[in-house]
Amino acid sequence: MPTIKIDEKEVTVDAGLTLIQAAATAGIDIPHFCYHPGLPIDGNCRMCLVEMEIRPGVFGLVAGCVQTVTKDGMQIRTNTPTVLKNREGVMEFFLINHPLDCPWCDQAGECRLQDYSFEHGRADSRFVETKRVPPKKDLGPHILLYSTRCILCTRCIRFCDEIAGTSELGIVHMGSHSEIDTFPGQPLDNKLSGNVADICPVGALVTKDFLYKPRIWHYTTVRTICTGCSTGCNTMMEVMHQKIYRIRPRENMEVNQYWMCDDGRFGYHALQEAERVKVPMKRVNGTLQATTWKEALQAVSDGFSRLIGETGQSAVGVVGSAQWTNEENFLLSKLAREAFKTSHIGLYVKPPGEGWVSKSGFRIEADKTPNARGAREMLGAADMRGIVDGINAGTIKGLYIVGGDLGLVLSAAEKEALGKLECLVVQDIVHSELVDLAHVVLAGASWAEKDGTMTNVNGRVQRLRRAFPPPGEARTDGEIIRQVGKQCGVDLGPGAPAEIMNEIARTVEGYAGLSYSVIGEQGAMTGIGQPSEAAGG
Ligand code: SF4
Ligand code: SF4
Ligand code: FES
Repeated sequence: MPTIKIDEKEVTVDAGLTLIQAAATAGIDIPHFCYHPGLPIDGNCRMCLVEMEIRPGVFGLVAGCVQTVTKDGMQIRTNTPTVLKNREGVMEFFLINHPLDCPWCDQAGECRLQDYSFEHGRADSRFVETKRVPPKKDLGPHILLYSTRCILCTRCIRFCDEIAGTSELGIVHMGSHSEIDTFPGQPLDNKLSGNVADICPVGALVTKDFLYKPRIWHYTTVRTICTGCSTGCNTMMEVMHQKIYRIRPRENMEVNQYWMCDDGRFGYHALQEAERVKVPMKRVNGTLQATTWKEALQAVSDGFSRLIGETGQSAVGVVGSAQWTNEENFLLSKLAREAFKTSHIGLYVKPPGEGWVSKSGFRIEADKTPNARGAREMLGAADMRGIVDGINAGTIKGLYIVGGDLGLVLSAAEKEALGKLECLVVQDIVHSELVDLAHVVLAGASWAEKDGTMTNVNGRVQRLRRAFPPPGEARTDGEIIRQVGKQCGVDLGPGAPAEIMNEIARTVEGYAGLSYSVIGEQGAMTGIGQPSEAAGG
């Protein structure tokens, strides 16, 4: 690995890194607009020019996004008068036509042009001519283009060409009349279109969803994962007053690189608009009525004890959820084995949706649940066919089933079987057809309201983080399971998700060696603690 000098700091970096990347490892930011680590390099904005020693003692300007680290002893200077003069000149050109609308621009506070203008721009403008005012354009279902703010960096074009592979965007007209536009009859409607708003370095491309929202510094950012499918894209969720305002991708080169799909990005509306179950309920004279937690828990324990007393322990079954965390499904399987003493454990399987793979290999999985793999591994069950058969055979008379899925659909056979149960306990977040069949309903928490881990389709265990508490009297699902256990006279052990993960690591195959510190921000693969790998590494 070559050792090079950047602003008198010595750094040892991989050969082939761009100077922008090499400088970043030394904590030095080389200003740039058109460069993005996830896109092919274009070198068009000239903001990143730095001085490099081209002959002994002689320095010349090179583009920090194009020039790579090639050999030991390279000398780079990022803040000499020549470099600063270039940046000032570049900024002056960019601001010739750019409107001074930062006070109402949606990008304010996270705009490179705004930041660099403070750091590198001139205090005054020498441009006395009239600014050009190209029109605002509606590019597609999610994206607006404020052409006046565009600096023609072409990030958005390269994204559509090389990542989505759909090539909807191009430059029309010439010279100072150049503008970004879609091709006629081809709106910007690919499955990844929201990403262009994230990568636009100015406020030119914005999502319609985040238009005229409170300023970005008012939000709390929660580093979590998307639950829209089993890819498990890493995300940043911006929340305020128990409400989600925006979800954006968080870099994880092993999972989603820098991107996320539009379904995952905008899917939070479905949760916020859903009719939530906010209180526990009990069926009285054929209708579900709100009740207290004390009474609901008592009803669960009474209902199941009666069935077990009458027909033996195999009278009760338990069904877990691919919407639940590993920790919750693990507790549920403990509840089944230790409190209900049953081995009838199943998993609700949602019918698959549509899968898709982009040109760059970004995958949207057909499995629209976030934790089918983890749930299978925690419960030791792949589906609920055995449960349905047990009910139809008259063996299973009571069932504890958990939902957590906004789009839960039951097959006719499942519905018919559940209708035969003498005691159906449903733990869910919305009023679903499952809830309609229940004798007791326990109000649980959504993906935004709980902490834990989920295992994606490839076996990567990742952290899901709570943004705010569940609504009304609803409780987190792990907490409910532990209370049901207590009501049945069984202590299910530690309740903190991190402690439950330690127990999972001790007992579930493939999870050895995992803990919250090992999982960290980027997740960790199952199987890391297996003897063969441990011996090898
Ligand atoms: Fe760059 Fe944004 Fe203009 Fe696209 S719209 S060229 S990303 S400034
Ligand atoms: Fe969410 Fe899946 Fe889309 Fe990623 S690909 S953002 S996990 S729905
Ligand atoms: Fe290097 Fe634009 S970032 S030329």
